[in-house]
Amino acid sequence: MKYAKITGWGKCIPPVTLTNDDLSQIMETNDEWITSRTGIKERRISHQSTADLATIAARNALDCAGITDASDIDLVLLATCTPTTLVANTASQVQKNIGAKGAAACDVNAACSGFLYALQNATAQIQAGMIKKAVVIGAERMTWYVNWQRRDSAVLFGDGAGAVVLEASDDKSGLLGTKTGCDSEDREILHIRNFGTDIDKYQVIGPSDILFEGREIFKRAVKGMTTAVDDVLQQVGSDISDIDVLIPHQANLRIIQAIQTKVKLPDESVMVNIDKYGNTSAATIPIALCEAVECGLIKPNSSIISAAFGAGLTWAASYIQWGERTTPIIAATHALSKCDKSSLELIQYAVEHCQ
Ligand code: ACO
Repeated sequence: MKYAKITGWGKCIPPVTLTNDDLSQIMETNDEWITSRTGIKERRISHQSTADLATIAARNALDCAGITDASDIDLVLLATCTPTTLVANTASQVQKNIGAKGAAACDVNAACSGFLYALQNATAQIQAGMIKKAVVIGAERMTWYVNWQRRDSAVLFGDGAGAVVLEASDDKSGLLGTKTGCDSEDREILHIRNFGTDIDKYQVIGPSDILFEGREIFKRAVKGMTTAVDDVLQQVGSDISDIDVLIPHQANLRIIQAIQTKVKLPDESVMVNIDKYGNTSAATIPIALCEAVECGLIKPNSSIISAAFGAGLTWAASYIQWGERTTPIIAATHALSKCDKSSLELIQYAVEHCQ
């Protein structure tokens, strides 16, 4: 039996930070409300495209795996709901940028659950013997959708990217159990308005908007992710006491804490970085995975559970067995270009046009 071992991990964090205090200058909100209701202190605003974010994360992951020539990568799978271009897909741009000549390139959209969906897909292809090496990326520019007039949603989202390299291996390692699903009955409670072929492109349309019923999603996110975690543990014949690290989707600190209480894991086993980045949708899990390795939370041979929930309403949970290596073969050096604008300058145009 072949496994899809994670041999590389990398991220791309845009350099410009938008703090809660910055937000309070453009809308009626404050650091105390945002921090206490969501756990978010700041988020990143990208001055470059989703394809650029994905490219940097992928390059860092390839270096981490020690792969200096990307031409032997078979598959580039990009989880995103903020593609730079829809046709051609954004993954093809990333494939070109990283030099994965000839590799299959495909975008996956399952919103916040996208990375775990993509990880499942690439792992299955490796296990079936169809491919040997894949780069799986989650990259988002969620702030592109934000209507800065809507304080309930504008404070929640941020931009970024994370990636992993998967390689066929005999080691029992990588994604060993997974459960994905979608509760489509309630797909309306979280959606983006004014985007897609649904709109009348010959009319002047308003700005896009992330619309959601926050409290309803909150409850469903906790229930959905907790159930998915239980299902995956059952699938792999494990118990929560066997788990070293929980990597939950980072939509709200209170959602994370509710899941943690339900599955009964101590604080030191739970990865939290929502304070720095907010909700970066499909980029959340790979960034958190990468930072969990960097901060020593993920150790050699750690058993990891990851869970996500997003628009659709999609959900996913994954059981990942980490390998022996927790240090990159080549350290991460790739980053976006420098940006000489402040966060408020970067969003100024959008803020003016939301009015
Ligand atoms: N600053 C100050 N006040 C605010 C803000 C803000 N940014 N946003 C809302 N308020 C006000 C509301 O207007 C309301 O005022 P009112 O009582 O006078 O009407 C009050 O705060 C309470 O609003 P609620 O919506 O009830 O606040 P709640 O505690 O439910 O928190 C939140 C809202 C943070 C959105 C929460 O419901 C949540 O995190 N939901 C799930 C996350 C989510 O929906 N994410 C979207 C992506 S989906 C995903 O990633 C899973």
